[in-house]
Amino acid sequence: MKRDVISILDLKDDLGGILELASKLKKGKMKKEKSLSGKTLAMIFEKSSTRTRVSFEAGMAQLGGHALYLSPKDLQIGRGETIADTARVLSRYVDCIMYRAFSHAAMLELAENASVPVINGLDDVEHPCQIVADLLTVKEHRGGFKGRKMAYVGDGNNVCNSLLLGAAIVGMDFVAACPKGYEPDRKIVSEARRIAKGTKCSSEVVDDPVVAVKGADVIYTDVWTSMGQEAEAEKREKAFAPYQVNSALVRKAKKDCIVMHCLPAHRGLEITDEVIDGKRSVVFDQAENRLHAQKAILLSVIR
Ligand code: CP
Ligand code: NVA
Repeated sequence: MKRDVISILDLKDDLGGILELASKLKKGKMKKEKSLSGKTLAMIFEKSSTRTRVSFEAGMAQLGGHALYLSPKDLQIGRGETIADTARVLSRYVDCIMYRAFSHAAMLELAENASVPVINGLDDVEHPCQIVADLLTVKEHRGGFKGRKMAYVGDGNNVCNSLLLGAAIVGMDFVAACPKGYEPDRKIVSEARRIAKGTKCSSEVVDDPVVAVKGADVIYTDVWTSMGQEAEAEKREKAFAPYQVNSALVRKAKKDCIVMHCLPAHRGLEITDEVIDGKRSVVFDQAENRLHAQKAILLSVIR
């Protein structure tokens, strides 16, 4: 059976193994290079991308395969061909499809109709590949997850949803501080709590960023206005102003806490220059780890 990665939950049973494989690939200790020789990855991007596009494309090349960048305006999707038919056709040519979509419903439709694995490269509900790279980064900088606490400060968006689930799976304490009305998906919050019970860690949503960062080993933030929400930018900037990750907030966490951001950042809004360029920031390690994490994911799903 094909293995889709639509949610970080799809990697739940071997997330530890995928992180190990990503570490080995990063250290050059895995003789997997060229093992995707002759394989093709189709990448459909409905939204812009720097990291996801380049890391998937470079990753496929490093594994001996090939990646195709497809924009809906060039595909027949732009002229009304259905997602389902596109999925059926692409499945006859390629070995895997990576899709960055506006809607989760479109992601599910593509996955249901593709006979090859589909990897979610971000939609409005989740960003699973990002979270594998993030967990790899935490493991490298903090040695592991047990007894560690991550505080996410800002919008309860796709990244926050996947982090909630990912932290619960690996057993890391997690708290999200979000303004009222911008909390993460309710069903995901309950699912994360259910998983956290089993992995013996905490999973919380609060509205006070200072409460959230107390005792945190990791502070994480993301943009206040995600792709597709541009019309709400002004309203969001007002609502999120007290949620900026700045030096004053970082001082309230553990002395040696690290600061993470999935990038791209809106400097001066959700994070200050001082913090993102400061000694606690690991944002470029995080960006690099997209490459290693996704190579591990590709090796796990492409047969
Ligand atoms: N973090 C992330 O997914 O970046 P891109 O939008 O540049 O792919
Ligand atoms: N939450 C952001 C993440 C970008 C990588 C967005 O969806 O635009």
